[in-house]
Amino acid sequence: MCGIVGYIGTKNAYPILMEGLKRLEYRGYDSAGIAMIDEQGKLNIYKTKGKVADLESFCAEKDTTGHVGIAHTRWATHGEPSSINAHPHYSSSGRLALIHNGIIENFITIKEKLVARGIQFKSVTDSEVLVQLIEYIMLNNKLELLEAVQVALHQVIGAYAIAILDREHPQTIICARQSSPLVIGLGDDDAFYLASDASPIAEYTDKVVYLNDGDIAVLQLGKELNVVNMENETQHPKVRQIDVTLGQLEKGGFPYFMLKEIFEQPNCIRDCMRGRIHTEENSITLSAVIDYREKLVNASRIIIVACGTSWHAGLIGKQIIEDLCRVPVEVEYASEFRYRNPIIYPNDIVIAISQSGETADTLAAIELARNSGAFVFGICNVIGASIPRRTQTGIYIHVGPEIGVASTKAFTGQVTVLSMLALCLAKERHTISANKYQKILNELMRIPEKMEQALETNEQIEHLAPIFTYAKNCLYLGRGYNYPVALEGALKLKEISYIHAEGYPAAEMKHGPIALIDSEMPVFVIATHDSLYEKVISNIQEVRARGGRVTALVTEGDERIKQFANHVIELPDTLDCFQPLLASIPLQLLAYHIAVCKGKDVDRPRNLAKSVTVE
Ligand code: F6R
Repeated sequence: MCGIVGYIGTKNAYPILMEGLKRLEYRGYDSAGIAMIDEQGKLNIYKTKGKVADLESFCAEKDTTGHVGIAHTRWATHGEPSSINAHPHYSSSGRLALIHNGIIENFITIKEKLVARGIQFKSVTDSEVLVQLIEYIMLNNKLELLEAVQVALHQVIGAYAIAILDREHPQTIICARQSSPLVIGLGDDDAFYLASDASPIAEYTDKVVYLNDGDIAVLQLGKELNVVNMENETQHPKVRQIDVTLGQLEKGGFPYFMLKEIFEQPNCIRDCMRGRIHTEENSITLSAVIDYREKLVNASRIIIVACGTSWHAGLIGKQIIEDLCRVPVEVEYASEFRYRNPIIYPNDIVIAISQSGETADTLAAIELARNSGAFVFGICNVIGASIPRRTQTGIYIHVGPEIGVASTKAFTGQVTVLSMLALCLAKERHTISANKYQKILNELMRIPEKMEQALETNEQIEHLAPIFTYAKNCLYLGRGYNYPVALEGALKLKEISYIHAEGYPAAEMKHGPIALIDSEMPVFVIATHDSLYEKVISNIQEVRARGGRVTALVTEGDERIKQFANHVIELPDTLDCFQPLLASIPLQLLAYHIAVCKGKDVDRPRNLAKSVTVE
């Protein structure tokens, strides 16, 4: 949610910042801006409503020289998208420029005090109070910028990742972090890069420092990275190596990241299993389970906390863990969990699932669980993100950067990790027979190949998609392991095509939603060959009897459903627990092609941002 990028070095900052904004645009795209200090010490700020491409056109005729700069792509929280509300914000005197990701909760109180002292605000954002407050403190108390930042941040309540430029000190950027991510890249030529995540940094350096909450970093040309806290005590954050290739950050010939990421899934799942599944010994090794065996094996309950698509993966995880490990699992929306007074026992394991590792609600749920004495386990994609750093242990899904706002490969990666975890724990808990373990593991290893087959439905789905573009509402039905797939299919359609869609357990239809069925309502049913197959057939008949138009996902060779469904999409056969890994693929493709037919910007759906760092 909002992307921030910065550079200080010997190269021209503009192309680095602009390229960085493009890589970060998935975090927010309602307005963008850039601030640079030119050779004469002039602070130039350019901002526009719209996408990064609009900012680039706006800057075409402007002075974009300078070796230091900061830039921002916004996802509005306070104040509509406009050039005035876009970042960077500058201070009253025009000396400072600031970019911010997060929310300042007490901004009204601070703003009122500053206005009473004669400070005039230009925007209606919460972010502008930061730059005005810092300058006010700096000028009134004759402090250095760093000291003023420290004093100001003591007064601020909320979440922030900020970067500040000072016209009077053109060789310095100061940045700080509290509950919003900030990564600093250390270039070989003494340059510093900073960004909300490593994607804009990866092409210049693989050495990064992830700032911790409370850290303030001073980036000065020709000097070592200096990190202090608000009390000015020196901090010693670790320099880490990132492993992101440029190819992973580009579209690789696909029109959208989402389509590229859908097609990457077979290889992503291979990467996710690599080094963990040992084909020769037919076994799984998860270091988290080795390191924390006692804790995990003796858990009396597991609570999964997550949001959105990750929550859907959690629902699948619940079924497979309960089925194989015979331990009760609850799945909670992190946003609800954090605000009720949940019962958490010290013997509980709380599993937090998050692609980005930065979701504010999931982070808050983790803190709550930790404070209640639970052991917290993370399942995350982004290496070094806040969630893996706040959990006691965990497993990375290793599916590579997910740029498309609609999550696809992260979902299947999360389900794969949950499946490996379930198998591993079941073996340790002796709740699975050797035969069953082998059978499930063998099938898991075949999933990437079967995903490749599932992707062959792309052409068929592309042809079907125009039929559904008229729809105002769609229903997705599934049972058992396929119920969360129905929820996920509906979410994908909603978020990128803006068609209202509901996912429902098929048997619940007759308790209400069946009243909605008519010939105008497309119904997508996941009716693959699993233990509930016969029941789902009855549910399809109920829909057909009311004039509903059914598109069914079936197992290849299924001749029965063909007789009464309007369309069938065939998938390879697999075990019940792995149906979601295959069935989610045609639903991702369906949402994608419908959105493309409707002319929507698939990678940048309206009102959404990739990483929800505000609550
Ligand atoms: C949907 C989607 C969101 C995220 C949710 C949680 O396609 O991407 O629903 O799943 O915002 O995000 P993470 O997994 O990063 O915590």
